[in-house]
Amino acid sequence: DEGVVRRDRFSGGPARSFLSSLAADERIFEADLEVDRAHTVMLAEQGIIGDDVAGQILTALDAIEVDGHGSLPDGEDVHEAIETAVIQRSGADGGKMHTARSRNDEVAACIRYRLREDVLEAIETTLALRESLVDVAEAHTETIMPGYTHLQPAQPTTVAHWALAYEGAVRRDTERLLEAYSRINQSPLGGAAFAGTTFDIDRERVADLLGFDGLVVNSMDAASSRDFLLETTQALSTHATTLSGLAEDVIIFANRGFVDPADDYSSTSSIMPQKKNPDTLELVRAVAGDAAGGVQGLTTTLKGLPRAYNRDLQRATTHAWETVDAVTEASEVAAGAVATADWNEAALAAAAGDGFSTATGVADLLAANGIPFRTAHELVALAADDGADYDALEAAAQEVLGESLAAHVEPAAVETALEPAESVASRDSQGGPAPDAVAPQIESARESLAAA
Ligand code: ARG
Repeated sequence: DEGVVRRDRFSGGPARSFLSSLAADERIFEADLEVDRAHTVMLAEQGIIGDDVAGQILTALDAIEVDGHGSLPDGEDVHEAIETAVIQRSGADGGKMHTARSRNDEVAACIRYRLREDVLEAIETTLALRESLVDVAEAHTETIMPGYTHLQPAQPTTVAHWALAYEGAVRRDTERLLEAYSRINQSPLGGAAFAGTTFDIDRERVADLLGFDGLVVNSMDAASSRDFLLETTQALSTHATTLSGLAEDVIIFANRGFVDPADDYSSTSSIMPQKKNPDTLELVRAVAGDAAGGVQGLTTTLKGLPRAYNRDLQRATTHAWETVDAVTEASEVAAGAVATADWNEAALAAAAGDGFSTATGVADLLAANGIPFRTAHELVALAADDGADYDALEAAAQEVLGESLAAHVEPAAVETALEPAESVASRDSQGGPAPDAVAPQIESARESLAAA
């Protein structure tokens, strides 16, 4: 058996474990069995191998599945090990399984087959997180809180408006993952080493059996491209970046006593008995670093790789697995942390007006009453430095306008604009934080989730 002789000669010697992906390939063990089955069925249907041989191969594959990845014979990778196991069980005819294909199209198919599943799971976690965020929004349309720019008090908003901001971002993350999924879900099988085959194969049939939604047609493209890994990892990294901002917000809010993460999502200290720390959220924040590292590793591995197959690709795959695992877990944990955290409405309300956060609303009110916005801005800024209340505004009006504020605006209207809750209620422009403007945002989020 020349194959066996050649495999002995090229077994790697001292470089064996460096060459081998067998351990990491446990991840695609099931996928490889499915790919083998589909390929074998197609070979038989096309009359390329006999039905009896196909039957023996399929029986061997079932037994190999029962024994599991850990029982595979040694091999350079899972594809070689499974083929060896098939031959061990069904004799030399088992070697017919590898007719009209290569490990190059085979591994590409296995990665796509498994990644489909993993990306669907990642997408599920984005949906769960969005559910959590919309639930928070629904419960807190009237919960006033400080809104920040530059992490300085800026304008009052609501917890609902904050939660929906993240729901919108995560919704786009879901969309990006679905986009990536549609391109993962194409069959490279039949590409063979890169140059197709002389056998009369039916690529569509194999794609169909494996549930792929079409082919990567060009056989060189099929066997050697990995941009589907790159775009998936990038989409995951983008989601991880969204998660990191969400986590950071919750960490800051917890620091200020605005929110109390559930005990399940917190840790204590081994020395400081009173401590309750938002550790899970810190880890969620950190996963964005891992994911960015995954994208970087993958990009750098793929950069400048010539067509067609190069063994570098073996090390590209692991970046994708690590990234999808870390991000999916982080997304799931973030969903749980958001769903179970307790919002401290009193602390939020007490802080909502901090730093004269209603200043913009007051300036808007003056502008609505005929004072040029720039003049109003200057007037309110003066008052901000001088007490930030009605009296300060009146003094500033005397200085800037040379007359009483009351000459332009009802004092009661100014007092109202100084109230954080009123300030929020008045910002009812489309997409704004007023409960009336938030309602359609909740509805749209619910509709989008129902359609997912
Ligand atoms: N284990 C390899 C990988 O993960 C597939 C084998 C292709 N090997 C080869 N020498 N062409 O990419």
